[in-house]
Amino acid sequence: MHKYMTIIAIPLATLALAGCQQEAPAPAAEQASRNTLSQLPVSTNAAMVGLIDQSADYIWAMGNGDLPKDDHDWHLVRGAFYDMILGGAVMKVPGTGEFDAQWTAEDNWQQWSDELTQIGQDALPLAESRSTDIAAWRAIGDRLVDNCLQCHEAFKPEVPSQGVLHESTERESRGISIFD
Ligand code: HEC
Repeated sequence: MHKYMTIIAIPLATLALAGCQQEAPAPAAEQASRNTLSQLPVSTNAAMVGLIDQSADYIWAMGNGDLPKDDHDWHLVRGAFYDMILGGAVMKVPGTGEFDAQWTAEDNWQQWSDELTQIGQDALPLAESRSTDIAAWRAIGDRLVDNCLQCHEAFKPEVPSQGVLHESTERESRGISIFD
């Protein structure tokens, strides 16, 4: 019985190998479309509100001395900084918004987006080491404010083009912890 199974198994394995070899390599164009993101499925504005603005709030909370209380809070903070790192990369690609292609074509747009990624990357080790150095957090927060303001001054219209709006910061202004 054992012998019989071995005999069967060999031709099957050979067939499987032959199948692999016959598979044509993916054409270059198809390969490229897998590796590059040419358009986001949402607007820049939605990416801004969903990824950037969300994660920025954690950096600023830390700078204001609103520190995580437990493991769960630190996980939230770390996750937010990965969002910031990725969010900067996302911002470099046009989305579905009316002006997205125009904006992302500008050099300073690309630089400010890269800076978001860099700021997220600089915040990550602080989160990993669970730093309670509020001055260090505030220094990162200050760089972030400059970044947002500079780009908004250059590009942000009065009313967001896709109607996605920032959630009220009323809670923060009333001093309620971001972690509550
Ligand atoms: C690379 C440029 C750029 C950077 C950097 C940038 N923004 Fe924006 N942001 C924009 C543009 C442009 C819009 C408007 C998009 C639209 O209307 O389609 C916008 C929209 C927004 C909105 C939604 C509109 C509103 O008024 O509620 C929020 C919130 C926001 N940004 C927050 C931030 C924060 C916080 C930062 C920094 C952490 C930041 N942005 C950094 C370009 C930028």
